[in-house]
Order: sequence, then C-alpha cells, then structure tokens
Amino acid sequence: MYVPERVLTNRDLEKLVDTTDEWILDRTGIRERRVAAPDQASSDLALIACQRALEMAGVDAANVDQIILATTTPDRILPSCACTLQRKLGATRAAAYDMFAACTGFVFGAGIARGLIGGGMADTVLVVGVETLSRIVDYTDRNTCVLFGDGAGAAVFQACEPGVGLHAVDMHSDGELGEVLEVPSGISANPASEHTVARREHFIRMQGKKLFPFAVRSMEDATRKCCGAAGWAPDDVDMFIPHQANLRIIDGVRERLGLPADKVYVNIDRYGNTSSASIPIALDEVVRAGRLKLGDHLAIAAFGGGATWGASTMTWTMPAFHGRALSAAAAGEARA
Ligand code: ACO
Repeated sequence: MYVPERVLTNRDLEKLVDTTDEWILDRTGIRERRVAAPDQASSDLALIACQRALEMAGVDAANVDQIILATTTPDRILPSCACTLQRKLGATRAAAYDMFAACTGFVFGAGIARGLIGGGMADTVLVVGVETLSRIVDYTDRNTCVLFGDGAGAAVFQACEPGVGLHAVDMHSDGELGEVLEVPSGISANPASEHTVARREHFIRMQGKKLFPFAVRSMEDATRKCCGAAGWAPDDVDMFIPHQANLRIIDGVRERLGLPADKVYVNIDRYGNTSSASIPIALDEVVRAGRLKLGDHLAIAAFGGGATWGASTMTWTMPAFHGRALSAAAAGEARA
C-alpha cells in the first residue's frame, strides 16, 4: 500500500464547508483522509504500492504478465493509467489496462486475475487499486467532500495448489443505479466545455441515502454466496475486509453476517473512502500486522458506483509476513 503524506482532518474540512468533526465521525467513522501532492498522479501512488507488493511477493517487475489497474481517477484518459504505470515500473512484458468498477475494482480485479491464471493466459498478475479522488471531489459540497481520500494498494496473484487460494469471486453490476453516484461530464456524453466547468460537472455527485441500504444488502449477499462456494459458514471466516465507505455500513454488514468485531478490519478512520484502493490498503495492513496466517480464511466484499458489487473468499497461501511493517507514518514517507 501507499498513501500520500498530506493529512486532511475533519477540522480542516470545517474550514471549507458547513460541517463538524462530530457530524463526520458520528455519521461515517472518518477522522482524517490523505490527499495527493500536486505533483502526484494516480500512477505515482500505484507505482509505490506495486513496488512494495512485488518486493513482498519476491517477484521481479519484468516477470509480471498482466497489470490490471482498477481506478475511477486515471492520470488521463489516453494513455491508460496502467500503461503509464507499466513504464514507470519497468514491467516490460506485461499487458496493462485500466478497469473501471469504482469501489468494487479490486474485487473485480481478483476475479479477472483468477480467470486469467486458471485459464492459462497468465502466470503472474498484478492487481492494483489506486485513486486520487481529491481531484474529482468538490470541496464546496459537504455531502461528498468529507468522505473520500487518496491512496493505492496492490497484490500479486499466482497459481497455487487446488483447494486453497481464491475459492470464489462474485461479481455484479446494475446500470439502473448509475445516477446514484456519478461524475456527469468530461468524456463522450458531455465533453468538457466552459459550461460543464461552470456547472461543476467534473466532480462526484452522490445520493448517499439511496446507496446506504443497497451497500449493506449487496455486500452481505455477495459474501454469503462466496462463503457458500468455499463450503464455509460466515462464522468460519477468520478475517473479513469490507470496502471502507462508511463505518455504519461496515457495522451493518458485520451484524447481518453475525461476525464479531475483531474479525472485521476497519481503517476508515485514517483514510476515509479510497474507493478501489480501500481493500488492498487494508489487506496490506492486515498482512504486515501478522493478522493473516497460512491457512486462514479471508473474505473481502465491496460495492460502488455503476452500481457494482461483489465479494471473494480465499484460504491464505502466503506464510506469515516477517518483513518490515509499514506504520501509517512510514506509509506516508515515500514519495513518487
Ligand atoms: N456535515 C454536516 N451535515 C451534513 C453533511 C456534512 N458533511 N453531509 C450531509 N449533511 C446533512 C444533510 O444535508 C442532511 O441535512 P437535512 O436533514 O437538513 O437535509 C443531514 O445531514 C442528514 O443527511 P443524511 O443523508 O440523512 O445523512 P446520512 O446519515 O445518510 O449520512 C452519508 C450521509 C454519510 C453520505 C451516508 O448516507 C452514506 O455513507 N451513504 C453511502 C455513501 C457511500 O458509501 N458512497 C460511496 C460509494 S462507493 C464509490 O463507488 C465511490
């Protein structure tokens, strides 16, 4: 994982919009989030996360077959963010492409990686979720600007023995819910113009209330399905990493699955909602803290704009990690 150095606290936001630290903490569980420096683009954040993931996996960048970059905030539309990352990483052999599934991006990426490896099309797939959401957040809109943050997380996927690793990946979309979370303008439907800029149509717009029940229901359903496919009851999960969108959504899913709080990882207080980066950031923290051991049962679940949602269950195949733990401060030290 990598998160930028700059911290934007709830108190900082009190100076920008009509909100309070108490409201944000009570309604979302967020205390602070990270914001990329002006000279940092998404590919810069992704680069550091990918270098750390490859180092942890003991894999050389030159041996990566495919890079799946999940994002809502690529550096630019052309070339793809994944190709820019491929160049910076020196992953010369890899086919690299962007994948747009909003907050469900890492789950979808895991599903595609599983298909590519299982189908014999790739041996090593690098999946990275990266966002610089601060670039598309309207810091005059209190409904959205308190929620989102910047960051990147990456994982290396390779084949393993049958019966362990990824058991199932559940992937869904419902375009009927598209307008609930959108950036109205900027590409083919409404190309950028002085009018779209004047109407602030290049920023995220969200109907948060409509998303809330959908988020809880969809993450619970997808997680149950993946547990079933693995032959587990939800209670057999050792670690559940939900997308970090709102602490009340996480608590709702946890209660419906009947999981105790110590099996559910939460870091939304420190990073806010980093969309496609949220699960791999959390996964890195869990692994470096030694909270996932060989043979442990892991479940991940997400929902996001589109709408998209999904989950995955895996039996962890990596021996306990004894490398350098990244403290929150250290995670902010490195710069692209
Ligand atoms: N500070 C103070 N008051 C606020 C703020 C704020 N930052 N934001 C909204 N309010 C106000 C509203 O205007 C409203 O006022 P009103 O009653 O006078 O109209 C009041 O607070 C209550 O608003 P609600 O919408 O009822 O608040 P709610 O408890 O639903 O929380 C929230 C809002 C946090 C957005 C919640 O609905 C939520 O988390 N929804 C899911 C959003 C989400 O997960 N989005 C990410 C999707 S993932 C992706 O793909 C990026």
